[in-house]
Amino acid sequence: MNKHHMSAELIFPKGFLFGTATSSYQIEGAALEDGRGPSIWDAFCRQLGAVVNFENGDVACDHYNRLEQDLDMIQQLGMQAYRFSVAWPRVIPEGRGAVNELGLDFYDRLVDGLLKRGIEPHVTLYHWDLPLALHQTGGWTIRSTAEAFCEYAGVVAGRLGDRVKSYSTLNEPFCSAILGYFEGVHAPGLQDMGLAMRAVHHLLLGHGLALEATRAKAPAASHGIVLNFTPGYPADDSEDAHRATRLHDLINNRLFADPILSGKYPADLIELWSAGYGDNLLPIQQGDMEIISRPLDFLGINYYTRHVLTSLKDGDTAQFNMTTHDPEVTDMDWAIYPLGLTELLLRLQREYLLPPLFIMENGMACRDELHNGVVRDGARVSYLNRHLAALLLAMARGVQVKGYFAWSLMDNFEWAWGYEKRFGLVYVDYETLERTPKQSALWYRDVIAANFDAHKHSEHSSGEALCPR
Ligand code: FCB
Repeated sequence: MNKHHMSAELIFPKGFLFGTATSSYQIEGAALEDGRGPSIWDAFCRQLGAVVNFENGDVACDHYNRLEQDLDMIQQLGMQAYRFSVAWPRVIPEGRGAVNELGLDFYDRLVDGLLKRGIEPHVTLYHWDLPLALHQTGGWTIRSTAEAFCEYAGVVAGRLGDRVKSYSTLNEPFCSAILGYFEGVHAPGLQDMGLAMRAVHHLLLGHGLALEATRAKAPAASHGIVLNFTPGYPADDSEDAHRATRLHDLINNRLFADPILSGKYPADLIELWSAGYGDNLLPIQQGDMEIISRPLDFLGINYYTRHVLTSLKDGDTAQFNMTTHDPEVTDMDWAIYPLGLTELLLRLQREYLLPPLFIMENGMACRDELHNGVVRDGARVSYLNRHLAALLLAMARGVQVKGYFAWSLMDNFEWAWGYEKRFGLVYVDYETLERTPKQSALWYRDVIAANFDAHKHSEHSSGEALCPR
């Protein structure tokens, strides 16, 4: 059997980029090293009951101290691109003001280390680790945090510049605002819709301001944002299920996409929530919507699962009762539904004027076990295989997608789930911090190699089919 057998159909257009992703707090560790300040996640992890097993990111994968080894690993896995995030509290420990050059030096080495190995650096500026000092003065609920974010973005792009291929301002602002300020399951752990909506607006404003700041400092790079989408489907034909699905879509998918891509918040949502949660939910000032909807060079999409809705939770218009329709779920209990990715992309193409897209995250948690140096994660191979196929289907119907990043390079701190959930292509033994590529990592490396081979071949034989079958 040809070693590329399993991946034989997964041939993407020439130039399509394959990579993998991580984020700072989830892998770096070194929480107190080289002048890093505390973030809201350091504080949240110390609240009893906030994180499974009372775990935290103090050490995580110790990536900060194992940089060269990890860079070699990324290269050995054949990655063409690597998406990582910069820790704001490492660069500006108090959130505003003094810049910590040692923090910037780390990302400098990371970027150069990638380039030296022929791997494209893709930077995310905010993957949830807000400097604690900024939270203490109001965090995302106040406007000055958006301005502080813009300053920080300019500092990072000022140092890393055009060596970076793409800058994403925010990762999944839905999680920062809704999980952090309304559901209380992420840092800073608050439960107040009024505060959550202020956070929504200031995150979006921060995005628009930072987009200009990074563009000015790194004009040859691409500039965008990463949003997570969770398509909802009604469980049945009842009015309850349909109403829940409509509202679920507003909050999960349109709350951020509409202002960014169309320059306005979904009116139906604002009207509904003003009735439920009070007037003046959004502290919009003149000119804000123009800043928020500045043109993007790309939109990053994170897709993991779908939701199947039965009804609204009693007395609430932002929480939902759901059911499981899909026979397979991941270790997070998330339904496996690859077709959801195809349908999502086609829908976005229908409803918005889109910039080119990147899939910035996609992957699954498994109960991986290491035996004799091997991790057999066939379920993850199957998940990735089917989602890549679903992506190809959307692309065949005209959706312009330029790359795909598997989540995640290695097992890491999975937020409120601590180290219990493993999303990595590479297994991490948390006792020794030893890394072992899982079967999925080797499979993905073969997919990347097969694409490379296919296009090398196509150069010499114009007219032949791109996809050897
Ligand atoms: C996404 C996050 C990422 C990781 C995956 C599983 O929402 O962006 O950090 O936790 O989920």
